[in-house]
Amino acid sequence: MRYGWMIALAGLCLFLFPGAVFAGEQRREDGPMPASKRECSSCHRIVTGNQPGPLKQPLPALCLSCHTAHQSLANHPTGVIPQNPAPGLPLDQGRLTCTTCHDPHRNRFGALLRLPQTELCVVCHRL
Ligand code: HEC
Ligand code: HEC
Ligand code: HEC
Ligand code: HEC
Repeated sequence: MRYGWMIALAGLCLFLFPGAVFAGEQRREDGPMPASKRECSSCHRIVTGNQPGPLKQPLPALCLSCHTAHQSLANHPTGVIPQNPAPGLPLDQGRLTCTTCHDPHRNRFGALLRLPQTELCVVCHRL
């Protein structure tokens, strides 16, 4: 019974923090979208009916047309070329843009981020 104490500890953790087991599942739920992001015509030209067409402006000018400045502490350069490949963080012609970090269509982790903030930065900035 070398591992008996580990099993007992795991059991105790499950008893104390049952939510932790399902944390991965909960993370995938989308949070509510801000009004401007539910309105397709904020960013897309509407060509036929209500079908969204091409973007009204190229990135990042599109986002900056409403967000004149990135106010947050996470103010980050765009147009720079990351050295490390970043799966799930799309680039624009190889360069960082607003939608590298922000998903314009889903709000999974708050602030439309593609990853939780604690995980996002270290994808490219390895410690
Ligand atoms: C905040 C700006 C924004 C809003 C609002 C927005 N989109 Fe987009 N959408 C984008 C961007 C940016 C792209 C990526 C296009 C690119 O990089 O060429 C995109 C791409 C798409 C695509 C192409 C497939 C894809 O996912 O890349 C579809 C379809 C689409 N949007 C549908 C919609 C619909 C439907 C709505 C309204 C419910 C909407 N969009 C609202 C910014 C937006
Ligand atoms: C037509 C104007 C408009 C455009 C274009 C636009 N936004 Fe926004 N955005 C807003 C407004 C207004 C808010 C404040 C919340 C709301 O009322 O929708 C907002 C909120 C946000 C937020 C904060 C969300 C939160 O939950 O705190 C982020 C992040 C964001 N926008 C990113 C972007 C990105 C990235 C683009 C380009 C792909 C973009 N926005 C394009 C108007 C715009
Ligand atoms: C390297 C990743 C990254 C890039 C690139 C990035 N952002 Fe952000 N953005 C963040 C993070 C992280 C936050 C902070 C969220 C928080 O504080 O809760 C944020 C917050 C925001 C917010 C909401 C709070 C605020 O500052 O007003 C808006 C709007 C926003 N970003 C727009 C943009 C726009 C527009 C661009 C492109 C010019 C952009 N972001 C590029 C990571 C990024
Ligand atoms: C997709 C890759 C990527 C992600 C994700 C990313 N960065 Fe960066 N970051 C870069 C690149 C590329 C540069 C510019 C080249 C360099 O200085 O390494 C940069 C530069 C910086 C700088 C220097 C800014 C300056 O003006 O010189 C800081 C600080 C920074 N990042 C912080 C962050 C933080 C905080 C986050 C998370 C919110 C983050 N980064 C997420 C790729 C990324």
